[in-house]
Amino acid sequence: MSDVLLERKNHTAVITIDKPETLNALCQDLIGQINRALDEAEADSQVYTIIITGSGRAFIAGADIGEMYEKDRETIRKWAVLGCDLNLRLETMALPVIAAINGYALGGGLELAMACDIRIASEKARMGLPETGLGVICGAGGTQRLPRIVGESRAKEMIFTAERMDARTALSIGLVDRVTSPESLLDETLALCSAIEKNGQLAVRAAKRAINAARDTDIRDGCRFEREIFSSLFDTEDQKTGMGGFLAGKKDIVFKNR
Ligand code: CAA
Repeated sequence: MSDVLLERKNHTAVITIDKPETLNALCQDLIGQINRALDEAEADSQVYTIIITGSGRAFIAGADIGEMYEKDRETIRKWAVLGCDLNLRLETMALPVIAAINGYALGGGLELAMACDIRIASEKARMGLPETGLGVICGAGGTQRLPRIVGESRAKEMIFTAERMDARTALSIGLVDRVTSPESLLDETLALCSAIEKNGQLAVRAAKRAINAARDTDIRDGCRFEREIFSSLFDTEDQKTGMGGFLAGKKDIVFKNR
């Protein structure tokens, strides 16, 4: 039986983690299943955006503590690579990925959400990196992404104290972009996806690459990189469709994404 559900809604692939017995905790098998759902979504040319969410009370309540407990330095390192690689995949894949955080997003769950491009939280969401309370630290990029999102001192406060925060607090520090009622989380996230999907997808994907590059480069190299990607879009049919449509006074421009 699968613990990861994949459903297509128009141009959006909705990936739902559905392992209620451990509150969707990430074990090796579950990471494999998420990767396979991503393979399927990426192979479908009609998928433009991906939503990751959880079923029940949790988004993902962290890495599976039962699976990690017996590991030693060598075996946990191999395990951590799986989580790190999944998060890097989400962050660098061409398609925009949106985390719809329905409930607990703790430890490895928040790390995964932080690797997504946009985070929307339900009022029921609870977030934090509680690893120091377990005698360890994050192993899937949490110490690297959290300071980039909320700033170094707030990240240190959260990690040192193992604080667990509600959705409104997460919104106030920029950890999530929006808070919704639990009932409207998926609809609001799908509406956001529709707003992305009506634009040129080559441009949206180019924007993701350029924005990601801003993190790792100085301003001059970043602007050079942006200029190259910007220029390359003038080789596309979408540029003529978009700019030509504007000049012709068209209201609804339909891109062919080529
Ligand atoms: N791993 C394994 N099992 C987990 C789990 C996890 N991270 N989180 C919850 N579960 C299991 C519980 O063991 C419990 O199982 P049983 O019914 O068999 O006892 C079931 O899910 C329900 O959980 P609770 O009974 O604890 O539910 P609750 O409502 O009382 O509490 C909770 C919910 C606050 C999320 C609590 O379960 C909790 O604190 N979970 C652990 C959160 C955590 O510490 N996450 C970080 C893990 S370390 C990590 O992620 C490392 C990394 O960076 C890679």
